[in-house]
Amino acid sequence: MNQAASILPVVGAAHWPYPRHIAHRGAGKLAPENTLAAFRHGASFGYRMFEFDVKLSADGKPVLMHDATLDRTTSGAGRVDALTLGELAALDAGGWHSPAYAGEPVPTLAAIARYTRANGFHVNIEIKPVPGNECRTGAAVALDALALWQGADVPPLLSSFSEEALDAARQVAPGLPRALLLDKLPADWPARLRRLGCVALDVNHRALDAAVIAQAHADGFKVLCYTVNDAGRAAELLSWGLDGLITDAVDRLAPQP
Ligand code: G3P
Ligand code: CA
Repeated sequence: MNQAASILPVVGAAHWPYPRHIAHRGAGKLAPENTLAAFRHGASFGYRMFEFDVKLSADGKPVLMHDATLDRTTSGAGRVDALTLGELAALDAGGWHSPAYAGEPVPTLAAIARYTRANGFHVNIEIKPVPGNECRTGAAVALDALALWQGADVPPLLSSFSEEALDAARQVAPGLPRALLLDKLPADWPARLRRLGCVALDVNHRALDAAVIAQAHADGFKVLCYTVNDAGRAAELLSWGLDGLITDAVDRLAPQP
């Protein structure tokens, strides 16, 4: 038995412990993305699962950040992986959004694990490497997640557009569930998921229809999609049996269990 399997419950088609509604980057666009403030805001609307983006600092520490550069969402500039964790800690990751959030720090994965575990929330960690750092990021994030969620009733769901990163995550933490992110659906998507040992497909909702969801379920995969902000489209996808809906619209889409 591998280390992950010994401490984490197995997640898959037979046991899927995650809620259907997942807040995107914490609380979508209502609070500064990928900050603890965003998670608290999403939680205030009843959300109990959060998607967020993780990459590595210069000294290899997993931090929450969507872009490869700091310019859009912090007071810093340049590549995220040019600064150490200590240097990132000095940045303002909230003031760009609105004055009420000025001074919000860049969270570490460890800080988010503490907050979400203390509140019984679930997480979808998107491994989002700075280009060229796929394997190192996949392995480091998975190892950190394994340690941070040790003993948890529900493990974090890892996802990535990078097959290299998912493969690296699988090698160091095979017991952590994985989903392959895709913007479009290539014909061989089931084979790709199988090769990476994924439990779920996580795809742009525009590529989804009832037949794809039915095929995925028949093949033993769960289906998540991003980023659905229209209530009618959300209802349609859920009526087709969608398992996880990632949304910015935490104030308009009431979360289901
Ligand atoms: O995890 C799904 C979704 O977040 C992927 O798109 O650009 O928001 O990270 P992006
Ligand atoms: Ca993301």
